[in-house]
Amino acid sequence: MQGGQQMFEGPWMFRSVLCLLAAGVALPTEARWPCPPPCYCGAPLPEVNCSGGRLAAVPAAVPKEATLLNLSRNSIKTLPRQQFRALTQLLHLDLSDNLLVLVEAEAFLGMQSLLTLNVSRNQLKIIPVGAFAGLTSLRFLDVSGNQILVFLDFTFSDLAALQFFTAADNDLVFVAHQAFAGLTTLQELHLDGCNLTVVPTEALSQLSVLRGLHFHRLGLTTLPNYSLHHLVHLKDLRISHCPRLEALLGNSLFGLNLTSLTIKYCNLNGVPYIPLHHLVYLEFLDLSFNPITYIHGNLLGDLLRLQEFHLVGASLVRIEIGAFKGLAHLKLLNVSRNLLTTLEAGSFDSVQTLRSLGLDGNPLACDCRLLWILRKRLRLDFGGNPPTCTTSAELQGWDFLDFSEDELPNLLTCRQPRILRGRLQDVRVDQGHTVLFYCSSEGDPRPSVRWLNPRLKYVPSVGRIRTLSNGSLEVRYAQPHDSGTYVCVASNAAGNDSLPVSLYVRAFSLSSKNNFLPQGWSAFPSDSPSLNGNQKLQFDVKTLLIAATIGFLSFFSSVTVCFVFMFFWSKSKGQIKHTATIAYVPRSTMSKSNGATGNYMETSRFTMKLI
Ligand SMILES: *[C@@H]1O[C@H](CO)[C@@H](O)[C@H](O)[C@H]1NC(C)=O
Ligand SMILES: *[C@@H]1O[C@H](CO)[C@@H](O)[C@H](O)[C@H]1NC(C)=O
Ligand SMILES: *[C@@H]1O[C@H](CO)[C@@H](O)[C@H](O)[C@H]1NC(C)=O
Ligand SMILES: *[C@@H]1O[C@H](CO)[C@@H](O)[C@H](O)[C@H]1NC(C)=O
Ligand SMILES: *[C@@H]1O[C@H](CO)[C@@H](O)[C@H](O)[C@H]1NC(C)=O
Ligand SMILES: *[C@@H]1O[C@H](CO)[C@@H](O)[C@H](O)[C@H]1NC(C)=O
Ligand SMILES: *[C@@H]1O[C@H](CO)[C@@H](O)[C@H](O)[C@H]1NC(C)=O
Ligand SMILES: *[C@@H]1O[C@H](CO)[C@@H](O)[C@H](O)[C@H]1NC(C)=O
Ligand SMILES: *[C@@H]1O[C@H](CO)[C@@H](O)[C@H](O)[C@H]1NC(C)=O
Repeated sequence: MQGGQQMFEGPWMFRSVLCLLAAGVALPTEARWPCPPPCYCGAPLPEVNCSGGRLAAVPAAVPKEATLLNLSRNSIKTLPRQQFRALTQLLHLDLSDNLLVLVEAEAFLGMQSLLTLNVSRNQLKIIPVGAFAGLTSLRFLDVSGNQILVFLDFTFSDLAALQFFTAADNDLVFVAHQAFAGLTTLQELHLDGCNLTVVPTEALSQLSVLRGLHFHRLGLTTLPNYSLHHLVHLKDLRISHCPRLEALLGNSLFGLNLTSLTIKYCNLNGVPYIPLHHLVYLEFLDLSFNPITYIHGNLLGDLLRLQEFHLVGASLVRIEIGAFKGLAHLKLLNVSRNLLTTLEAGSFDSVQTLRSLGLDGNPLACDCRLLWILRKRLRLDFGGNPPTCTTSAELQGWDFLDFSEDELPNLLTCRQPRILRGRLQDVRVDQGHTVLFYCSSEGDPRPSVRWLNPRLKYVPSVGRIRTLSNGSLEVRYAQPHDSGTYVCVASNAAGNDSLPVSLYVRAFSLSSKNNFLPQGWSAFPSDSPSLNGNQKLQFDVKTLLIAATIGFLSFFSSVTVCFVFMFFWSKSKGQIKHTATIAYVPRSTMSKSNGATGNYMETSRFTMKLI
């Protein structure tokens, strides 16, 4: 050790003396200190710019007073130990865009003032433990654009003052559990474009004061439970361009107290309501560019401090009423470039707080549901792109700033629903039948139809009694206790209309036949006989016997025909056979020509005496 250092020191001293002399001669007026060629030394600021100087090694005689040394865009391949030992006052060292393949341990030893170190865009495959020894003041470290595969245990343990660390564009496949040990002041970490497929939970748990964590272009497929739960000071989590990330597990954000969350350009197909719900301090949420189709009602209410919600370029078809209920501070909603036909005031807790609204790039139906936006349009910031009417013929292409105040009431209108009252729908059926009640309605926008059961509960769209997508009510295998009055309710933004129907289900009794339904009752019984109780009963022993006999007889007659045929055929040939073995496949697939061969595995046989 000692010897190597000595050997290294000798030529270094020698070279620096030479350089000092050379520089002193070459640039006597430009700097108060000698400047190593081909560098430029700035005056009066002690900055040394060796960028683009085709250097293959760190120049020897860098003045001790230098605070910035720019070695970017050179051809430096290795950094031996204690390379910069004399530069105790250096604050910024830029080694980006070199050909570094090796940084020896203690390469930076002695640079106790260094604040920023940039070794981006080199060819490092590994950082040896101790490479950053002595950098006790370092605040910013950039190792992006290398080919680093692993971060070893304790690699960064000397960087007790590090605040910002980026490791973008490496080939990282593994981060050792203790890799980040010692980074007790790290505030922001960027892991970007790595081949990591799992969250390095153990390693991250060392970063006790981390405030910002960015994961970009990682191969994550899911964010597992408790992935980040030690990061109690994390405020800003950004995950983007993770096309394989389809889900956040229920407890994946457990332990976090975020104010800002971004998950964009991933593959989430729904708003992660459950993982988010404890983030009561969240102010900023960006889920843009995920294939999310719905924002459901009443599921985001826990995010009571949310101010901005971005969901641009997703596949949103609907924002339900009450979607933002409870979000009393929502100032900005950006749902540009989706598939929304409307956005109702009822989706918000209150539209009073809203300042910015991105709604352009949606196939909007301009009717009374959007009137609230028109009324507020001069006080809303549309981000330069006001919404446009796309679906209604007469307003096609109009944007919301084209309308004048007095036009408003007559332009965006709705028509209240009206249920078409056709035939009287009072139905009496026997137990076990299936009944269908129709409910067709008209209105603008097209009303949504729901049914209330006799207990005034909404009938769901699944189950024995259900609401079909076309608005009909279906009661399958009707039971006596299904009897009562059902109400069809058609509603849209303009109001509602309702229609009661009644169902009477007669309890099944043995003597009943199918003939009691009086004329004029409009029932819609199921056609499927297997579901029909009456027909099942008729399937008695007698029927079975008859059916069996018919089957047996037909089998026997074909066998007989077969024998008669064989008899005459063999007689005409002159050779009389007196017995024959008949093989047959039970499922009456008996074949006459194969009859005597008995080839089939599953055949039965019997022998018969011929006349
Ligand atoms: C450093 O030197 C390079 C090459 O001479 C020059 O292009 C660059 O602008 C200089 N940078 C600064 C910060 O002076
Ligand atoms: C080093 O010089 C390059 C240009 O040659 C410049 O882009 C870079 O910002 C400089 N680095 C620092 C730390 O000033
Ligand atoms: C490091 O250098 C690269 C290339 O010059 C630059 O893009 C990057 O911003 C620098 N990093 C820091 C932290 O300044
Ligand atoms: C990392 O991923 C890139 C691109 O997907 C690939 O080219 C590279 O070979 C991978 N590296 C490793 C070590 O798997
Ligand atoms: C993650 O947490 C959720 C919510 O508690 C739980 O339902 C789920 O089973 C957990 N998944 C795993 C893989 O532990
Ligand atoms: C969560 O963060 C907010 C502000 O960001 C802070 O006021 C609050 O005390 C934190 N809560 C906990 C439990 O740390
Ligand atoms: C919504 O986001 C888009 C795309 O990022 C942007 O162009 C637009 O200005 C934003 N709108 C608002 C109101 O912030
Ligand atoms: C509604 O759908 C059901 C089942 O798909 C069908 O039997 C019924 O005729 C439909 N009703 C109307 C009014 O189209
Ligand atoms: C129908 O509208 C009336 C007021 O117009 C309202 O009181 C009632 O609750 C609505 N009914 C339903 C089922 O939405």
